[in-house]
Amino acid sequence: MILVTGGAGYIGAVAVRELLDKGFAVRVLDKFLYGDGPLEEVKSRIDCVEADICQLNEAVLDGVEVVIHLAGLSNDPTAEFNPEANRRMNTVATRTLAEGCKRKGIKRFIFASSCSVYDRGMMAEDFIQNEDTAVVPRAAYATSKYQAERALLELADDNFQPVILRQGTVYGWSPRMRYDLVVNTFVRSAFESGKLTVHCGGEMWRPLVDVTDVARCYLACMQADPQLVAGQIFNLSHKNYRILELAHWVKKALAGIVDVEIEVEYGSQTARDYRVETKKIERMLGFRTRVPVEESAHHMAQKIQAGINADFHNPRYYNIKWLELLVDIDAHLKRIGSIF
Ligand SMILES: NC(=O)c1ccc[n+]([C@@H]2O[C@H](COP(=O)([O-])OP(=O)(O)OC[C@H]3O[C@@H](n4cnc5c(N)ncnc54)[C@H](O)[C@@H]3O)[C@@H](O)[C@H]2O)c1
Repeated sequence: MILVTGGAGYIGAVAVRELLDKGFAVRVLDKFLYGDGPLEEVKSRIDCVEADICQLNEAVLDGVEVVIHLAGLSNDPTAEFNPEANRRMNTVATRTLAEGCKRKGIKRFIFASSCSVYDRGMMAEDFIQNEDTAVVPRAAYATSKYQAERALLELADDNFQPVILRQGTVYGWSPRMRYDLVVNTFVRSAFESGKLTVHCGGEMWRPLVDVTDVARCYLACMQADPQLVAGQIFNLSHKNYRILELAHWVKKALAGIVDVEIEVEYGSQTARDYRVETKKIERMLGFRTRVPVEESAHHMAQKIQAGINADFHNPRYYNIKWLELLVDIDAHLKRIGSIF
């Protein structure tokens, strides 16, 4: 049995399907912040546990052989919205879950960390960073991921094999769609306005990876020899792209579907900027990503053309909008009692 925390999320919904396709039994632990709709089609084939990772009931670990830990706040704006809650969800809950796994004899623990731990800001020296580069995360999200990594590595021993994947920004279609990730945002903007706006001259670097490649990578980490993965950190990215280059790839991918104009702004706004090396995962696991941005953007466009996830105004596609809305509604309901 594979436990996927956050299995109803953007990456989780794809990873769960990949695991089922490969014949694994799957349990999902999720608070369903964005609903359980993304798992609707596969619900009869999985064990679904609606719970908060911050209040772990260790019974959820019974019968589990591998944990793929994705639950938590998953971007900068939601982390900045409530940094203390972000720390509890992303760092403290990760450590508690790992300690529970250790007690239950669950060795393999795959953690969805982020390449944002490499961000040093646009004014910093530009170089390609690898897993051995000393990192100095600045923002709440990156810091919480980095501290979770440290906690997992401290717990690593013969009986506990954490594998840390520093994922680049993910792109591609998922049954739980997000339009707040850079490539997906460009595709949405292309359909909505025919215009892709690129800030800061589009000079920033970003490592990016397709969501199906991420799901395949979890399987590779699950099945790898412990000597290759236990206590290791791996960068996971298809390629480092400059944001302006990305906009051109998306424009090319959508040619013949929508006309796209690229608008470049040269403001002084700060933006995330980093690029990473991915040789380690190729060398040690033989893992190679497959899906470039243009193929993924084209696939997303086909879904949208078919009317799937084309309701761009839906706040669920934008994590911070949805979170703010939930907090607002929560406060309002507490004040007025029930609606009827
Ligand atoms: N999407 C990316 O570009 C990206 C890049 C690097 C790392 N990551 C990491 O990958 C993981 C998955 O990202 P995603 O894009 O699928 O995010 P997502 O926001 O779409 O999904 C997160 C899931 O976790 C669940 N969740 C949140 N808090 C929870 C809690 N306290 N208890 C139980 N469930 C909870 C949510 O309900 C949701 O289903 C996250 O840990 C994220 O930080 C994502």
